[in-house]
Amino acid sequence: MTDGVDLGVDLGGVHLKNPIMTAAGTAGYGTEFANVIDLGALGAHVVKSLAIFAHEGNPRPRLAPLPGGMLNAVGLPGPGIQAWLRDHYPSLVRSGATLGVSIWGRTVDDYGEAVEVLVAGAPEVAFIEINISCPNTEAGNRLFAHDVRATRAIVRRCRQVCSQDLFVKLSPNTEQVIEVAQAALEAGANGLVAINTVFGQWLQDGVPALGTARGGGLSGPQIHGIALRIVADLRSHFPDIPIVGVGGISSVHSVISMLLAGADAVQIGTANFVDPRRSQLLVEQLTARIRGVGKASLREYLASYSAP
Ligand SMILES: Cc1cc2nc3c(=O)[nH]c(=O)nc-3n(C[C@H](O)[C@H](O)[C@H](O)COP(=O)(O)O)c2cc1C
Repeated sequence: MTDGVDLGVDLGGVHLKNPIMTAAGTAGYGTEFANVIDLGALGAHVVKSLAIFAHEGNPRPRLAPLPGGMLNAVGLPGPGIQAWLRDHYPSLVRSGATLGVSIWGRTVDDYGEAVEVLVAGAPEVAFIEINISCPNTEAGNRLFAHDVRATRAIVRRCRQVCSQDLFVKLSPNTEQVIEVAQAALEAGANGLVAINTVFGQWLQDGVPALGTARGGGLSGPQIHGIALRIVADLRSHFPDIPIVGVGGISSVHSVISMLLAGADAVQIGTANFVDPRRSQLLVEQLTARIRGVGKASLREYLASYSAP
């Protein structure tokens, strides 16, 4: 309940006090944002993707600002789960945040181990987000997220070693988004997160603007329409599954659009680079919007859009 307005949402077994979360990779590993926002005021704070190993990521430059968003080729740098458990997890728990942790790997076993170590060391984590937009080194570096069988294998493996809520984060860069989602759900995922970044490239003075010649991932308002479309498609295929919408959300209007497209909750990514307070501001603005039209809850407010 925020200022008398009930913004609560249920994602399967996970209850969030409001539908606004940070998106993996855009708000740090720990409490980096705690000096500008109250992490506990968000629906959830999602920790950047962690692997069972430490990883340096790509050479710099890794980020290129674009009109309408950005291109990144960060390459999943991170301290590894063990170091995160030691250095970040305790302060995150003290912050009062509802925690989601994103995990990644290069093999199916990497994912399984990551989940095993995470659930053993971090009982306060509310849900685990499985980032499958990573190259599968056992399959010629094809992205797991573009491969129905590999996705099924990862989720099955993670499901075998934990009972926590598992959300699978989908790539928009495949024609098979629905098939991949179906495989993830059949293998035991509790919900879906859509979307990760969109493949992109940008040249400066005739050369790729990032350290990796192949480009990177587009994010920000320029991909919002793609994210809305994919979430709407997912919702029509999976009417009862928790869906988290992410992609280009930076205003109350885009939050509401994503919820009306079929998401149960949303994540804020690139907008955090513009203003790290944005997620909390959106909670406040959403509350004000609902109160302003005399509704008592988010549910009631959204229902008024479909009322005759
Ligand atoms: C710099 C940067 C780093 C990211 N790192 C991750 C990550 O570690 N794991 C992940 O699942 N997604 C990662 N993402 C993708 C975002 O979580 C999000 O899905 C995407 O940026 C689209 O949302 P947005 O348009 O609001 O940024 C990253 C995005 C950016 C811009």
